[in-house]
Amino acid sequence: MIRLGEIAAACGGTVLGEDRAISPEAFIDSRAVVPGGLFCAFRGERSDGHDHVAAALDSGAGAALVDHPVEGTGPLVVVDDVQVAMGRLAAAHVARLRDSLTVVAVTGSVGKTTTKDLLAAVLPGPTVVTRGSLNNEIGLPLTALRATPDTRHLVLEMGADKEGDIAYLTSLVPPDVSVVLAVARAHLGVFGGIERVAEAKQEIVRGLGPGGTAVLNADDHRVAAMAAVAPGAVVRFGREPRPADDPVTVAASDVRLDEGGHASFTLRAGGGSAPVTLGLVGAHHVSNALAAAAVAHTLGVPLPDVARALSGRAASSPHRMSVTTRADGITIIDDAYNANPDSMAAALRTLTAIAHGRRSVAVVGAMLELGDAEVEEHAAVGALAADLGVDRLIAVGQLASHAAGEFPPDRVRRCADLDAARAALAEELRAGDVVLIKASNGSRLWTLADEWAGEA
Ligand SMILES: Nc1ncnc2c1ncn2[C@@H]1O[C@H](COP(=O)(O)OP(=O)(O)OP(=O)(O)O)[C@@H](O)[C@H]1O
Ligand SMILES: [Mg+2]
Repeated sequence: MIRLGEIAAACGGTVLGEDRAISPEAFIDSRAVVPGGLFCAFRGERSDGHDHVAAALDSGAGAALVDHPVEGTGPLVVVDDVQVAMGRLAAAHVARLRDSLTVVAVTGSVGKTTTKDLLAAVLPGPTVVTRGSLNNEIGLPLTALRATPDTRHLVLEMGADKEGDIAYLTSLVPPDVSVVLAVARAHLGVFGGIERVAEAKQEIVRGLGPGGTAVLNADDHRVAAMAAVAPGAVVRFGREPRPADDPVTVAASDVRLDEGGHASFTLRAGGGSAPVTLGLVGAHHVSNALAAAAVAHTLGVPLPDVARALSGRAASSPHRMSVTTRADGITIIDDAYNANPDSMAAALRTLTAIAHGRRSVAVVGAMLELGDAEVEEHAAVGALAADLGVDRLIAVGQLASHAAGEFPPDRVRRCADLDAARAALAEELRAGDVVLIKASNGSRLWTLADEWAGEA
C-alpha cells in the first residue's frame, strides 16, 4: 500500500481529496479496473482518460492520476504530465523494493517477448513479468508498479522506436542484468540504418545499474561488440559450433529439430551440461532459450533446473509460431503477430523443416516499417522462399507482391487484400498441407490464422 501523499511526493504532484492509502498498481483502461489501484488518465487519439476518471473511481479505483482536476471526482493526484509522473512513481516504487528484488531487462529486434516468457518459467520465486509486449514508456511503469515486497525477480521487456527510448526506461529502473538478443532489420526506416538500431539497443547495456551484468548474444556481432560499453561483468551465449578463439559462457550444442519443428540441444554452462527440448517451434528459439539460460546461470539457478524449465515450455503469447493441425490434416503455423526480414526468414525455414515432404504453403503479407529497404526486403523473401523449396506462395497486399515477383510464376498467387487471400486459401488448401501465415501485425493476417486454425 502507498499513501497518496507519497505518490504526490514521488512524482511532484498534489493531492486533491482524502490522503488515503491505495494499491500502487496502476491501470490506464477504465474498463479494466485494478481494485484499489491508481487510474492514470491518458489522452489517446480517440478518447481522453480524464473523461473516464469518475467511472474508474466508481468501479473501485483507489485514486486517479490526472493533469487537471476533474470536477466532482476524487481523490486525485494532480501532476503536470501523467506519463512522466507514472515513470517517476515506478522509479520510486522499484527503488524502495530494490533490496529484495533483481531487475532483468530484455531487448533486441526479435525475441523479446519469447525470452521474457521463458525467463518467467526459468527464474525461481515470485516473478513479475511484462504482460504481452507492454515494453514502452507506459508499459514499463505499469509492469514495475505490479512488483510487491514478495517479488524476487522483475523481468522487463524494453522496446525502442527511436534512440533514447531505452535510455529513458533504464533511467527509471536500472537493470541488474541486461540482455541483448539481436540487432535485426526491424524498424529500419525509423532509425535510418542498422548501426543506429545497434546504438539504440546498446542503451540497455550502458543503462545497467552499479555492478550489473550484460548478457550478450555472441552469435550476433553487433550485440557481441556491446561488451565494450558494459560497466561490469559480461556473460556471452551462443550456438555451437563456434570459433575456438571466441568462447562463450552458455552454449547450445547438437541442435536438432524434430518433426514438429521443436528444437532439442545440449545446454552447456559452467562445466556442466543438460538436455533441453523446447516446446517452442523453430530453430531460431534456441537463441532465446540460451539468453534465458544465461540470465538464470548468472543469477545462480542450477543448470538441471534451467533445462527442465526450458523444456516443454510452449508459446505463452498468441500468434507466435503457434502450430495447430486440423481434423482435415492441414497444419497451420500461425506467426502472424509480427514480421521483419529476420523473423520472416526464420519462419520460412521452420515451414520447410516441418513440412518435410508434405506440401508447404507460405501466406505472406507486408513487413511494415522497413523504410527505403521495403521493396528489396520483400523481394528477398520471395527469393528465399523459392530457394528453400516452398511449394506455393500466397502474397497478400501490395508490398508482398514484390515477393511474388521473385517466386516461380506457376506456383504463386497475388491477392490484393484479406478477402482475396481468404478465397485463395479456400481454393488452394488440401489435406496434408503445411501452411505458414506471417506478416506484420498491421496487415491483420492473424484474422486468417484465427479462422483457419480455429476450425481445427
Ligand atoms: N532469434 C530470432 N531470430 C529470428 N526470428 C525470431 C527470433 N526470436 C523470435 N523470432 C520471431 O520474431 C517474431 C516476434 O517474436 P517475439 O514476440 O518474441 O519478439 P519481440 O521482440 O517481443 O517483438 P515485438 O517488438 O513485436 O514486441 C516471431 O515471429 C518469432 O518467431
Ligand atoms: Mg514483444
